Amino acid sequence: MSSSDRVLNAAVLGATGTVGQRFIVLLSKNPMFRIHSLGASERSVGKPYSQATKWKMSELMPEEAKNAVVKNCDPANYAGCDVVFSGLDASVAGDIEKSFFEADFAVFSNAKNYRMVPNVPLCVPVVNTDHYALIAAQRAALGLKKGFIVTNSNCSTSGLVVPLKALQDRFGPLKRAIVTTLQAISGAGYPGVASLDILDNIVPLISGEEPKMEEEVLKILGGLSQDTSVCTPLDDLRISATCNRVPVIDGHTECVNLEFANAPPSVEEVKRCLREYTCEAQDLGCFSAPKHIINVTEEEDRPSPASTGTPEMACRSPWPHSRVPRVPHQVHTTCAQHHPRRCRCQHPQCRVCCQEGPPLICITRLWLLCLRLECVAMPLVVLLY
Ligand SMILES: NC(=O)c1ccc[n+]([C@@H]2O[C@H](COP(=O)([O-])OP(=O)(O)OC[C@H]3O[C@@H](n4cnc5c(N)ncnc54)[C@H](OP(=O)(O)O)[C@@H]3O)[C@@H](O)[C@H]2O)c1
Repeated sequence: MSSSDRVLNAAVLGATGTVGQRFIVLLSKNPMFRIHSLGASERSVGKPYSQATKWKMSELMPEEAKNAVVKNCDPANYAGCDVVFSGLDASVAGDIEKSFFEADFAVFSNAKNYRMVPNVPLCVPVVNTDHYALIAAQRAALGLKKGFIVTNSNCSTSGLVVPLKALQDRFGPLKRAIVTTLQAISGAGYPGVASLDILDNIVPLISGEEPKMEEEVLKILGGLSQDTSVCTPLDDLRISATCNRVPVIDGHTECVNLEFANAPPSVEEVKRCLREYTCEAQDLGCFSAPKHIINVTEEEDRPSPASTGTPEMACRSPWPHSRVPRVPHQVHTTCAQHHPRRCRCQHPQCRVCCQEGPPLICITRLWLLCLRLECVAMPLVVLLY
């Protein structure tokens, strides 16, 4: 359904955290939803939300959340909820989310726990809405009538797959993708990274982030089996991610080098392709679908976290200065070693360090300001209901 007069009752699990707060702001602005229930840990249970949470959003706390009493995350307390958004810590999300979808709730999770399960959609709604077809198989496998779980991706992944999808659809398969991220502090939740670690510094590794990003991209850009029972990740894209935490509050920046399997498009063709990219959520008129999915900017100082506005406005991926690199074979990593086999990660499964074959020739170098996770969750729900 693209729009509806029916207002859905929404619950937020992990409501007191960074993701939960963002959900509350977005739900309060979206006419399709009413905030019905807020859940968190025993630390918060029984308190009015305004006392249980350290509110960190730039917007004021929505009135409807302020006095809601925080519940524990037991499905029995959520009768009447149509949709459950989870911003739970990954250490507890697995069991709690399972108890909700097994109790026939529609669960949309930001946590990593179920992302790579073959019959669980890992969806970036401006990219792979066709993966919702997995829900029928998931329900059949688990014996559920209405319940299901859909996950969204790591925030760096969600920014990267949008332009990759646009380019892949227009110019054929990608052969290699090398990405270096400059990730904001808010991505680590609250209180997040210690100030002495991040002030005047760059943290050169985000534990677990690199393999997660590589796997997720392949799943999201992949297809489905013929009977739509499982996802079939891409197996011919070599991808390598290097992830850094930088002293920026909101907005991840990613430096991306790509190689196409076919003859590479020109820079102008790449720009046109990115500008023209559209998605199903727009066609359906979803409330939170971005007007322009990818903004190609020409200014030298854009995109940057400072120039791109608030997270809500960043439902776009600005890309300036696509260009043919001056140095053939170059790879951009944080240690600036310009050769693919000097990829810094040394991970045994890294598809760049370990691969043999012709040297990398990047056809273009692109900059991307990452989509924030909140941009992707809402159109997803609208599409499903
Ligand atoms: N931050 C991002 O940009 C981002 C992006 C993508 C995905 N994610 C994922 O989204 C999830 C939430 O991230 P976050 O940054 O919002 O984390 P966070 O700020 O640390 O919040 C964690 C939330 O989980 C709740 N919680 C912890 N233990 C619990 C328990 N035993 N039972 C019930 N609730 C419990 C906390 O409640 P209390 O306050 O009561 O302890 C809090 O509401 C994580 O899985 C993270 O990996 C985050």
